[in-house]
Amino acid sequence: MSVPPRSAVVGAGRLARALAPALVAAGLGPVRVLSPGGRSARALARGRRGMSASSLTETLPDDVRLVLLAVPDDRIVGTARALATSLVSWRRRVVLHTAGALDVAPLAPLARRGATVGVLHPLHVFGSSGTAAPRGTLCRVEGRAAARLARDLGWVPVVVPRPALYHAAASLASNDVVALLHLAAAALVRAGVPRARADAGVLALAEGALAQARRGGIPAALTGPATRGDARTVGRQMRALRAFPLASAAHGTLSMHLVQLAVSLGRLDPAGRRAVARALAPVARAGT
Ligand SMILES: NC(=O)c1ccc[n+]([C@@H]2O[C@H](COP(=O)([O-])OP(=O)(O)OC[C@H]3O[C@@H](n4cnc5c(N)ncnc54)[C@H](OP(=O)(O)O)[C@@H]3O)[C@@H](O)[C@H]2O)c1
Repeated sequence: MSVPPRSAVVGAGRLARALAPALVAAGLGPVRVLSPGGRSARALARGRRGMSASSLTETLPDDVRLVLLAVPDDRIVGTARALATSLVSWRRRVVLHTAGALDVAPLAPLARRGATVGVLHPLHVFGSSGTAAPRGTLCRVEGRAAARLARDLGWVPVVVPRPALYHAAASLASNDVVALLHLAAAALVRAGVPRARADAGVLALAEGALAQARRGGIPAALTGPATRGDARTVGRQMRALRAFPLASAAHGTLSMHLVQLAVSLGRLDPAGRRAVARALAPVARAGT
């Protein structure tokens, strides 16, 4: 006879693909995966030890003590409402959502039914491959149960008083980097680099910058014309980017930050700063 599930993951997308096997590996299985129609949950659980699947309309097994919501942020409150009526009692059960920008408020329907609620947001990019977040991953938590689970999964729990700002920072370091890489590859192609080579060229550059930052700290990776005071080169770049308004705005704005950083590190003198600022002036005016 199969062992009833102790944990459940609602949602079968990018995060769930990594989270469900991680729960099993941490001894918190068997895990029931649920998705709206059940199809993606079945695809996730198929052939995996310690995992089963169902649709969201099916009743949650009574043995489930831990429920993780891995659904789009705006769906959490609706999912919580639907779950709240799906069990007779939620006492002695823990429900955590995984949205970095939100507090526990969307889980109020479950809290009112007696569930212990919290937030577990690993600071990691989960893609479609289901690759696990490594040990030592920072993890925003709300509540003791979430902190304990983060540690059980090998992550480092951190309590964050300003979740929306924390999440904006996470997007800057991950989603926005993807946007920059995409813009850079497009500009490289327009500059004459063969399309088939552009992505690899851009990725090699980004990996070089990341490797430098990892070795010596983020400021150690500071290079480029804006930080050297090469104002004419900065001007040439800005003129070349006129045909790419988004890339121009992003590059100009980020260059202004690089200039400030270079000045604060003593790498750029006042004359260099003024010259680069003049070359970036059209962007600075557009941003005010
Ligand atoms: N991806 C990341 O890197 C990452 C990192 C940390 C935290 N998170 C958090 O994890 C949560 C899920 O993100 P994700 O990237 O895994 O999203 P995703 O890949 O888009 O997966 C979303 C899942 O939610 C299901 N779903 C859609 N609408 C629903 C509804 N109305 N009710 C219940 N389930 C619904 C989808 O069902 P179908 O499969 O049927 O479409 C899918 O399985 C978000 O709160 C996000 O902030 C994500």
